[in-house]
Amino acid sequence: MKFFIDTADIKQIEEVNKWFPLAGVTTNPALVAKSGEKHHNLIRSICSIVKGSVSAEVLATSSKEMVKEAQVLAGLHSQVVVKLPLIQEGLKATRELNAKNISTNLTLCFSALQALAAARAGATFVSVFVGRLDDIGLDGMEIVAQTIQIFSQYQIKTRVLVASVRHLSHVLAAAELGADLITMPPALFLKMVEHPLTDKGLIQFLKAAGRKVD
Ligand code: E4P
Repeated sequence: MKFFIDTADIKQIEEVNKWFPLAGVTTNPALVAKSGEKHHNLIRSICSIVKGSVSAEVLATSSKEMVKEAQVLAGLHSQVVVKLPLIQEGLKATRELNAKNISTNLTLCFSALQALAAARAGATFVSVFVGRLDDIGLDGMEIVAQTIQIFSQYQIKTRVLVASVRHLSHVLAAAELGADLITMPPALFLKMVEHPLTDKGLIQFLKAAGRKVD
């Protein structure tokens, strides 16, 4: 499983990428608004930091406008993957963009059948929003499991991207299921490597070696 970071905060991307080489970045309109940066400048800056795919989302809701916006976003940098909502118009746009060799990430996916439709339209990635499913009392990871099973059964090339990740149990479950990719909020990267026994063991070793430990 490869790791993307789910943020539009340049400082956080730079910081994490120093010790956890990122395979990509996902942004969305809410994250971009929170950053306070201009969308296109922001996407270019992110592409200069991370050597991987950078998802930039369209705001248009008709396929015609989505395709136009997608072409502008894709023209910003070769690493850009255009994020489109998983609605009928988004699928129509995905088909056109696929024919133009523009990579796509179908977002706001909440069912395995939506994921299958995205794959058949030619999506490069499909983002399954596990946290938002859990929020309404459903099991987000169950949708990931179903999607992986269906994609593997039909040898579908679309990559399953686990998104809307809230905690480490999502990360562990995604890895156990064999998800291709996960996009995590910045704070989870550190949580993933921290362990109290590691800290305790390190202190013991340093003391044993005669080092003064605070
Ligand atoms: C993914 O691409 C989205 O940006 C993100 O994971 C949404 O997460 P949220 O449900 O925490 O807003």
